[in-house]
Amino acid sequence: MNNPLRILVGCAALAAGLWVVSSPAPAGTPDLPKESYKKAADADLKFLQTRLDELAKADEPSLRSAKPATAATLMLATYADILGDAAFKAEILKVGEAVYAKKYKEAAEMAKKLTIKPGTPGKPGGPLAKLAAFEKEKDKDITYLPTTMKLFSNTQVLKIPAGLNIEKDLKDMIAKTNPPPKLDLTAIEILAVRSAVINEYALLHPNEKARDKDLKTWDKWAKQSIDLSKEIVTEVTKKTPDPKVIRTKLTLLDAACTECHGKFRFDD
Ligand code: HEC
Repeated sequence: MNNPLRILVGCAALAAGLWVVSSPAPAGTPDLPKESYKKAADADLKFLQTRLDELAKADEPSLRSAKPATAATLMLATYADILGDAAFKAEILKVGEAVYAKKYKEAAEMAKKLTIKPGTPGKPGGPLAKLAAFEKEKDKDITYLPTTMKLFSNTQVLKIPAGLNIEKDLKDMIAKTNPPPKLDLTAIEILAVRSAVINEYALLHPNEKARDKDLKTWDKWAKQSIDLSKEIVTEVTKKTPDPKVIRTKLTLLDAACTECHGKFRFDD
């Protein structure tokens, strides 16, 4: 005889299993220490202010230089949720809108006045910051993913100011030299916070190739990059960080970036 309770439990387990398989990727603000977010926020605000000054002064400001500035406003707005500074978040997103509208002088003036004042910390896992102008764009190819990924690029690309040099710094840190490169723990901490947040944007905004062909693999590499970035922050903020563990995780992170690019980046 069938036991109705058993059937019910079985169905619930099945439903739970299916839910895990079919639920969308849970992108959100990474769970990292507030102090680490603060360090990244200070560094990114400085980067943004400098970049906007350059754009404001340039005779022909380049879009390639402006993109990382837009991205930095998204990053800063996301950090602000965790740091508990809602006023800063609102203001920095206005800067982002101005940059995207190519109003560089206005954006530079606004950004100059901003400082982050951490308040009651927000909970991790909340939504990533959005830019109203991006939400209105029909062509998703020019919004979150390429904009935030740009931050990984070299400081200069074809002599034009570009990203935060993360990709190159990462490769330099894991170079197989003897002795191995010295590790700057604060620099690694900031790199990993940035990488965690950028990869959350990637998780939330797969490109066309991933959407059409293999979203699961996209999610896998994005999540792996987020997890490794978080683990790197955990290791470098320990009382006695283990350089070997840090190097291993940085190497795995670099591999995750490369795997995803190999499969999903359009040739450029
Ligand atoms: C889930 C997939 C995925 C992961 C993980 C990923 N990327 Fe990317 N990345 C992309 C795609 C797709 C592009 C092309 C974006 C575009 O321009 O449309 C890209 C672009 C880039 C660019 C070029 C930006 C430019 O326009 O100049 C750099 C640099 C980069 N990624 C570095 C990294 C680094 C470093 C990591 C790891 C820490 C990483 N990526 C992780 C998918 C990924």
